Amino acid sequence: MLSVRSLFLEILENDESFALFCSIAASGEAQGGWENGRISKLVPASQQEMAPKIARHGADEEKHGRIFLALMRKRGLKTVPVPPDTDYTMLLEAAGIGLTHARLRQDQALSEHDIVTYLSHSRVTEQRASEQMRLLLKHFGDHTELGRAVRAISRDEDNHLAYCHEELLRLARSGHGRTIQRILRECAMAEIRTYREVSLAVMAHMGRILRWSPLKAATLRAGIHATYAYERAGGWRRMTSLTLPTDNLNALGDPTPPPAVTPATP
Ligand SMILES: [Fe+2]
Ligand SMILES: [Fe+2]
Repeated sequence: MLSVRSLFLEILENDESFALFCSIAASGEAQGGWENGRISKLVPASQQEMAPKIARHGADEEKHGRIFLALMRKRGLKTVPVPPDTDYTMLLEAAGIGLTHARLRQDQALSEHDIVTYLSHSRVTEQRASEQMRLLLKHFGDHTELGRAVRAISRDEDNHLAYCHEELLRLARSGHGRTIQRILRECAMAEIRTYREVSLAVMAHMGRILRWSPLKAATLRAGIHATYAYERAGGWRRMTSLTLPTDNLNALGDPTPPPAVTPATP
């Protein structure tokens, strides 16, 4: 029977597919860490109180990258190159979503509009991250090899999502409401397309490694297209709503960030 659990177990049990999975995940997290690290240094004067939270967000993502690398190391595996068609972060940038890496490399303060763009992009991508980690948590929260990592990352992604809701609502109250709604919608539409393309690419690479039958590969592709159809028909709205996280306010405000690491240069 084809299920999320059986599919992931298959990927987990094969060294080559596990190394590819962890390498893709580690690269995405490191890029997210670098982006947030840069944004925290370029926050405009009017939003300075956000800077430590953005830095904390970046440190969390870098920590996630290190966790995926450690999972590989524990198995004696090395990182493998990330195929460009599986590079979610770069493909989102190519779709015109969020702030570009070229902009973030400049030592020039961002505008308030840039902060709205960054936070809206994060609101959408953290929804995806939070949902994916909750799925892994459901199936692998007690797994001996993965459980601890999955629990820690899932908790962090939920915090990142809560933080995005809270900060966007604050910016909406200060007059950015219409812009936020417009950018959130654009981001969600681009994200669901990019997620579909990346999912198809990841499954194609896994299928080659794990020698899936044409029927199994076709079934998985159909599932990915069905998910996109659901998201296109209205599922995207879950990525653009804003609700105050009353049970998790100031989720990134705790002044105890994880240890700093060597800056990544994606
Ligand atoms: Fe993360
Ligand atoms: Fe995150």
